[in-house]
Amino acid sequence: SMAKPWAGRFNEPTDAFVEAFTASVGFDHRLYAWDIEGSIAHANMLADQGILTDAERAVIVEGLMTIRARIEEGDFTWSVPLEDVHMNIETALTAAIGDAGKKLHTGRSRNDQVATDIRLWLRAEIDLIRQDLDRLQEILLALAEREAATILPGFTHLQVAQPVTFGHHMMAWIEMLARDAERLADCRRRVNVMPLGAAALAGTTFPIDRHATARMLGFDRPAENSLDAVSDRDFAIEFMAAAAILMMHLSRFSEELILWSSAQFGFVELSDGFCTGSSIMPQKKNPDVPELVRGKTGRIFGHLMALLTLMKGQPLAYNKDNQEDKEPLFDAVDNLRGSLRVFADMMAAVTCRPDRMRAAARQGFATATDLADYLVRKGVPFRDAHEIVGRTVALAVREGCDLADLTLDQLQGFSALIEADVFDILSLEGSVAARDHFGGTAPAQVRAAIGRARERLGSR
Ligand code: ARG
Repeated sequence: SMAKPWAGRFNEPTDAFVEAFTASVGFDHRLYAWDIEGSIAHANMLADQGILTDAERAVIVEGLMTIRARIEEGDFTWSVPLEDVHMNIETALTAAIGDAGKKLHTGRSRNDQVATDIRLWLRAEIDLIRQDLDRLQEILLALAEREAATILPGFTHLQVAQPVTFGHHMMAWIEMLARDAERLADCRRRVNVMPLGAAALAGTTFPIDRHATARMLGFDRPAENSLDAVSDRDFAIEFMAAAAILMMHLSRFSEELILWSSAQFGFVELSDGFCTGSSIMPQKKNPDVPELVRGKTGRIFGHLMALLTLMKGQPLAYNKDNQEDKEPLFDAVDNLRGSLRVFADMMAAVTCRPDRMRAAARQGFATATDLADYLVRKGVPFRDAHEIVGRTVALAVREGCDLADLTLDQLQGFSALIEADVFDILSLEGSVAARDHFGGTAPAQVRAAIGRARERLGSR
């Protein structure tokens, strides 16, 4: 195998198992494009500063681009003895162009290099996740618009509480996803700071221009402090926290879809393409997709704890512990993006069952609060109205009917103030239409909320 770039100081070869144990190339080769991008910018800056000649710059940049093409064509062998993506690429560069390749690492260390690579990679992934989030929101907005006036029982304690509309319920999810998008955008600002130039930990003796490298790589600025630059992984923890909250939202949403698609609720039907059958029970159609999204939430929460724990005992500056940041990050991004994609596709194909939602809303005395409010408007203090309606509900429970099925006579037995117009407010449509203020469930308000959410999405 090729000699290790750091072999000079050593008299004995690395223990064979240690070599495999300490290597990260098996997973960090995923960073190759960003590693090369960072190296090209570094070489250009070195040449602009007169640290490399223009001829050296030209062969280095050319050589790095050739290596990138070879990796993309599958014409590159990753070597475990060369440890990681950085030393693999640098060694291949020197093999291809000779001595100029050995100059690339001037004024740089793998410590600032790897921190730069992960930030470049994560910045790109955050942008893709935000696109996935936009797409999911657009699909939910279309669904909310279609079902803006569809009656759905609203629940508290999983007991029927008050009627809402299906559109209003979808818009609640939109709010959560919009906050997730904001959190990611905010995290991106702290991801987009450049460690390069910190070198191993203290900076370098060469006259580098870190502001120039930062500009070339699209960073907002170089990191202020070289020790912090190579050892900070706050940005990764912060991303993982945002990812965990987002997965928590998808998990709650999944839980609802699993309940709603059961025979007992029957509010929605998931399309066949997003369900699977049973190998023994021929009748089964299982909501595997939302169950798996709910399940994957666990590993993202685990990654957050892993990263926090990874950092808590580390003295300044770089420690090899940090190599352990990559697998959780890669796994989180893959599973988060997969979950967002499958969720959006699934929601685009969901079928609503308005008859089942209406039937459920009629079963739980969902308009009891409306009857209390009706009495309040006639001058009854709210607490007395609450008591009167409580006794009315008790009668309906005994009779086995809904409030709207009681006769005017029966209702007037509880309060002489009740008149025939009570049946308007006891209707489910009357109940939702009456909640007609900013943030309320009236279909007109839901449509206004959809408009505002569209504007928010479109303006970013
Ligand atoms: N593979 C290492 C990592 O992932 C790269 C930096 C190694 N630096 C070092 N001094 N060993 O963090």
